[in-house]
Amino acid sequence: MPSEPLPSAYKRIVLRRLHPGDLAAFQSYRCDPEVGRFQGWQAMSDAEARAFLADVNSAALLQPGRWSQIAIALASDDSLIGDIGLCIAEDGREAEIGFTLALGAQRQGLAREAVTEAIRLVFAQTAVGRIVGITDTRNLPSLHLMERLGMEKIRTQQVVFQGEPCTEDVFAITRGQANSEQG
Ligand SMILES: CC(C)(COP(=O)(O)OP(=O)(O)OC[C@H]1O[C@@H](n2cnc3c(N)ncnc32)[C@H](O)[C@@H]1OP(=O)(O)O)[C@@H](O)C(=O)NCCC(=O)NCCS
Repeated sequence: MPSEPLPSAYKRIVLRRLHPGDLAAFQSYRCDPEVGRFQGWQAMSDAEARAFLADVNSAALLQPGRWSQIAIALASDDSLIGDIGLCIAEDGREAEIGFTLALGAQRQGLAREAVTEAIRLVFAQTAVGRIVGITDTRNLPSLHLMERLGMEKIRTQQVVFQGEPCTEDVFAITRGQANSEQG
């Protein structure tokens, strides 16, 4: 079982646990339709979000078969600017990553710092050999971010997402690639 991996700081960001004090910031971007357009999650009511934040605050992280949700905060003042979802496969060999940044924090390279650190953490704390990220092909900032992180497109798939047929690109980075990107 991995040891408690958070908080973990990198450049201008800190990855830390979400907590109920994040409610206002969390809701402001999670209820923004532009931010949620290509995301699997739905906006929550304040009551649902409060319960979610309390739950993920104490949940064991990086457990096979479960999503872990972690905060992206600014190192300067610890304010919440987004979050990252990580799901380790049941067999522990692969992880999926998803990421969300508030509109006001985008286009500053902060997502790149946060996802770089999340990838480093997964490889440091688990035996996962490969991390994948899946994005709608229309989501250009997400495609761009994964390319800039050194992830490689491994396939394109047709899916039905929220009742609509769409095309997704699947990107991946292996432990060896991440070491050479960061080393
Ligand atoms: C996907 C998402 C996280 C990408 O965020 P982002 O802010 O565009 O990504 P970055 O933080 O890496 O910013 C990249 C751009 O910021 C700009 N930038 C400004 N200052 C910068 C700095 N100091 N360092 C680096 N980039 C900087 C650059 O133009 C850079 O583009 P480049 O890589 O061509 O140089 C964001 O668009 C998002 O949250 N979208 C909604 C949720 C979503 O769809 N998630 C993906 C689902 S899979």
